[in-house]
Amino acid sequence: MALSFQFFILLLLSCLISATSCLSHHQNNNKHAAELFIFGDSLFDPGNNNYINTTTSFQSNFWPYGESFFKYPTGRFCDGRLIPDFIAEYAKLPLIQPYLQQPAGYQQFVYGTNFASGGAGALPETFPGMVINLKTQLSYFKIVVKQLRQNLGDREAKQLLSNAVYLFSIGSNDYVSPFLTNSTIFHSNSPEEYVKIVISTLTTVIKDIYMKGGRKFGFVNLGPLGCLPRFRALEPENNGECMAEITTLVKLHNGALSKNLRNLNKQLKGFLYSNFDFYTTVTERMNNPSKYGFKEGKTACCGIGPYRGIPSCGGKRRGLTEFELCKNASEYLFFDSGHPSEMANQQFAGLMWKGIPNVTRPYNLKSLFERTH
Ligand SMILES: *[C@@H]1O[C@H](CO)[C@@H](O)[C@H](O)[C@H]1NC(C)=O
Ligand SMILES: *[C@@H]1O[C@H](CO)[C@@H](O)[C@H](O)[C@H]1NC(C)=O
Ligand SMILES: *[C@@H]1O[C@H](CO)[C@@H](O)[C@H](O)[C@H]1NC(C)=O
Ligand SMILES: *[C@@H]1O[C@H](CO)[C@@H](O)[C@H](O)[C@H]1NC(C)=O
Repeated sequence: MALSFQFFILLLLSCLISATSCLSHHQNNNKHAAELFIFGDSLFDPGNNNYINTTTSFQSNFWPYGESFFKYPTGRFCDGRLIPDFIAEYAKLPLIQPYLQQPAGYQQFVYGTNFASGGAGALPETFPGMVINLKTQLSYFKIVVKQLRQNLGDREAKQLLSNAVYLFSIGSNDYVSPFLTNSTIFHSNSPEEYVKIVISTLTTVIKDIYMKGGRKFGFVNLGPLGCLPRFRALEPENNGECMAEITTLVKLHNGALSKNLRNLNKQLKGFLYSNFDFYTTVTERMNNPSKYGFKEGKTACCGIGPYRGIPSCGGKRRGLTEFELCKNASEYLFFDSGHPSEMANQQFAGLMWKGIPNVTRPYNLKSLFERTH
């Protein structure tokens, strides 16, 4: 952290002196570190939703979010850092900033950028108008590509884009939102058809990035969403149990995702990927918390009601002003009703970075970063 921050200041200084020295500094001293572009939902959103017109249900820029690490609420849905923050650290990159954070401009994209938005799904029908959906995230990426071409020239921009790693956490909200809002598209399709629509929307985005030069992709599959404190808390339907209907969808999606990635690997020359088994990793910790250093695997640190599963953390959401907060978030797998704690995120990121192929396959992120294309 301290090191990369110093490096960032140095870079900033050299940029103030001259734009060209800034570029060459980056080119000469930072060849080993591939850029990181991040797409997705609240698992990866470092604060993009602070800058859009939405409701506090889709934001977390208030206390106690951020309390463990940043000491102020950044907009991350966590007490501290998220998975991409740790991945950036392991890749010796500075923290990757939210795309919408000002000042935007070329300098912000030298190490990549983060487009993720809490509540976002692959489908534009998921929480419409409240989030930055995947298609819009892709349109922002295309703006960045244009700027990189203008600043580096076509050839160097292409090189940068093919060396970069593209991280995705997407899909959870497509399966959760139909149980929280009305969804015509969900109800007018069978579960299998709906999963197909989600996966094919994601595939279009992957292929588009590939066409722009992207080659190295990292994915987090869907966690046991039906077992989030939020859904355990729904009474009398679930009464502390996992919500079976969501679990069925999650399993269908994860199976389809693995299959789809194997197909892309065959279809697209040079396409490399890492698929992290988030589902199994979270489930293991939920069921055996003490084995992984947690005291609690099912109840959230922050919230109210059964399992603290009512999403009132921070007391700023529509009519939900009361909440409880645990003493030490690191003892909990879940920080709030739908999101892991920083301690959990650190464990996930560690497995994504250097896990063995039973958990992150066929490559881990470390080997993707190290490949030159
Ligand atoms: C934000 O959204 C609300 C509700 O949808 C709307 O009434 C308001 O005009 C919007 N504000 C801006 C600045 O777009
Ligand atoms: C769905 O829409 C119907 C009719 O428009 C409404 O009565 C119901 O409350 C809505 N349900 C949710 C979960 O928003
Ligand atoms: C919080 O819990 C973690 C994990 O059990 C532990 O390492 C840490 O010392 C605790 N912090 C405090 C302030 O008690
Ligand atoms: C992967 O293998 C390790 C070591 O054998 C084991 O502890 C872990 O549970 C496995 N993980 C998964 C996701 O199968």
